[in-house]
Amino acid sequence: MNIITCVAPVNIAVIKYWGKRDEKLLLPLNDSISATLSVQQMHAKTTVMASPGFKEDKLWLNGKEETVHNQRLQNCLQEIRRRAKQNEDDKVNGVSNWYAHICSENNFPTAAGLASSAAGYACLVYALAQLYNVTGDISGIARQGSGSACRSLYGGFVRWHQGSACDGSDSIATQLAPHSHWPEMRILVLVVSDKRKKVSSSSGMQNSVKTSELLKYRVSHCVPKRTEAIIKAIISKDFDTFADITMKDSNQFHAVCLDTFPPNVYMNDTSHAIVNLIHAYNSASGKTKVAYTFDAGPNACLYLLEHEVPKLVSVICQIFPPENEGVQYLQGIPVEKQAVSQEFIASIGMEPQQRGLLKYLIHTEVGPGPQILSEPHHHLLTEAGLPKVLV
Ligand code: DP6
Repeated sequence: MNIITCVAPVNIAVIKYWGKRDEKLLLPLNDSISATLSVQQMHAKTTVMASPGFKEDKLWLNGKEETVHNQRLQNCLQEIRRRAKQNEDDKVNGVSNWYAHICSENNFPTAAGLASSAAGYACLVYALAQLYNVTGDISGIARQGSGSACRSLYGGFVRWHQGSACDGSDSIATQLAPHSHWPEMRILVLVVSDKRKKVSSSSGMQNSVKTSELLKYRVSHCVPKRTEAIIKAIISKDFDTFADITMKDSNQFHAVCLDTFPPNVYMNDTSHAIVNLIHAYNSASGKTKVAYTFDAGPNACLYLLEHEVPKLVSVICQIFPPENEGVQYLQGIPVEKQAVSQEFIASIGMEPQQRGLLKYLIHTEVGPGPQILSEPHHHLLTEAGLPKVLV
């Protein structure tokens, strides 16, 4: 087969990656931990095709042709081909010598702090590995596309090891537990904005490494302890501890962003109102029921257990009403309607906010990682290797 189509998931870090020790190899300053989301609701989809007839590598992203002369993409392609050559008998005419056409799309907003580059590079590397018969760990290749992409190659709960080798060979992702380990875990993505973010993660973290004293303290004193503690919490399914560490790590990451000079402001007033709501919700519940985490953008990801979803969604809809009732406000896994007592709402002590601060909500769960789509109708490229749809 010289054509392969795959989908790959988004992952949401609970211990954040922020800061590189090597800009070229994309080696991080600290370990990070994430959950991989189901591909059912959010995914990148990529078709790759190789042919002796292709004259050059070509790339289409979300229906538009883009240059392949991008260092990160080149690093992934070169590394895949180098590994493919090691396996190939016929080194001259083998598939690793053929050019590739790559066509990729996301079914969720690109670069809005919703981990689209992670899903995109994970999907690209996973598909290319299938196409060029590359076996063994490929997370270290995806890492060279976008650091956090290495975590999207595994399902469930994943750890990206910072590693210590200069060549990056031990900076790879491993699975801590499969998605089936904690099947009650749910994620609600609260989309505050689906616009492209102002400061990319790459340049934001570069500035933090240069200027933030707090980042140094975080990396040396906080992350190692939190990493060990959250792994224990995941393994023992201790939601309280998991949620506590997740929120503290998100807050510290954004504190580092503010400690950066000039500061990187990713969260906005709506993000902070969400933080207030979750703390008020937890205290009205007498227990930590929900955790928030924010990446390099204003959108919130909430972790919670399945039985809590109907109540939380009902509260969110009251405090953050949609722009108009007609919009499909809740997307993803369907949620049963649940009436929440006025007493509980009163104990939250927050007035309903102006309509439309949240665009929509996506309800999803932890999933099993990248998948191959083998039906020909899934391919994004025609038999001639051109995109089926262009915009
Ligand atoms: C805030 O992986 O997008 O989402 O390696 O430069 O491509 P590059 O950065 P990227 O950074 C993600 C940062 C984060 C935290 C996380 O996912 O761990």
